[in-house]
Amino acid sequence: MSAEIISGKELAAQTRLEVKEAAEKLAARGVIPGLAVILVGEDPASSSYVRGKEKACREAGIHSEVDRVSVQITEQELLKKIDKLNKNENIHGILVQLPLPEHISEDKIIETISPDKDVDGFHPINIGRMMIGKESFLPCTPFGIVHMLKSKNIKLEGSHAVIIGRSNIVGKPVGQLLLNENATVTYCHSRTRNMKEITRQADILIVAVGIENFLDSTFIKKDAVVIDVGINRNTEGKLVGDVNFTDVKEKASFLTPVPGGVGPMTITMLLYNTVNSAEKSLN
Ligand code: GUN
Repeated sequence: MSAEIISGKELAAQTRLEVKEAAEKLAARGVIPGLAVILVGEDPASSSYVRGKEKACREAGIHSEVDRVSVQITEQELLKKIDKLNKNENIHGILVQLPLPEHISEDKIIETISPDKDVDGFHPINIGRMMIGKESFLPCTPFGIVHMLKSKNIKLEGSHAVIIGRSNIVGKPVGQLLLNENATVTYCHSRTRNMKEITRQADILIVAVGIENFLDSTFIKKDAVVIDVGINRNTEGKLVGDVNFTDVKEKASFLTPVPGGVGPMTITMLLYNTVNSAEKSLN
C-alpha cells in the first residue's frame, strides 16, 4: 500500500480559518492583532517569504507592517527599531527576517526582541521555556510539524522519532517538542556514523538537511512516518524536498509532499502565534 499523503496545504487552510475566527473575536473586543516584520536588504528568497507573510496576515485579519530597510543599516539602527516595536502596543509580534548581513549579529537582534513578542520562538528565553515544558512561543516550523502529526492521530508517546538535521530553527526544536510529547528522540547529523542503522529504527523520521534526494526507501523501515522539511530547487528550477518521494511513498505509512507539505504550516503557525500574543495582551 502506498503512503497516505499529509497535505500541509489543506491543514494550513483549515488552521488559518480558525486563526481568522480568533482574530475576529479579538477585533470585536477592540484589539487588532499586529505583526511587524523587518526585512533587511533585497534577497529574492527573503523578499518572497515576507510577501507571503503579508498576504497571509491580510487574509487572516491580522494587521501587518513591513519595514524594508537597506542592507547597509547599522546594527545600532536595527536595535533601535526593535526597541520601538517592543514598546508599540499595537504590535503583538515582531519578526526580523533571517539571514541578516554579516555586520549584524543575529544573536543580538533575536535577544533584543521582547520574548513576549517573539512570535518566531527564537529568543533564548522562549527556547529555554520550551525545553522545560513551560508555555512559550514555539518555533513555527517545528510547531507546524507536530500539528501535522497530531492531525492524523499519529501516536507520539513512546514512538521512536529520528531527526536528521540539528539546526536551531528546525532540527533541535522539533526533537524537543517530540520529547515533550513523550517520544523517544534520536538526532542524526553530518557526523553521524551508520546513519541508516539508526533511521531504520524510526517510527517517525524527520528530514531537514537541505539536499535533494537525500533520503530514499533504504533509510526507512516499513510503515514509518516520513516528514520532509527540505526546500530545494532542482536542476529544472522546480521546488523539491530532501526525500525521494516516489520511492519512499511505497514503503512509508504517511509522507509529506514538497511543495504543499511542511512549508504552508510554517506561516500558519506564525499567524497562530501572533493572534495568541494579542490574546495574551488582554490578560
Ligand atoms: N528565514 C527563513 N525562515 C525564517 C523564519 O521562520 N523566521 C525568520 N525570522 N526568518 C526566517
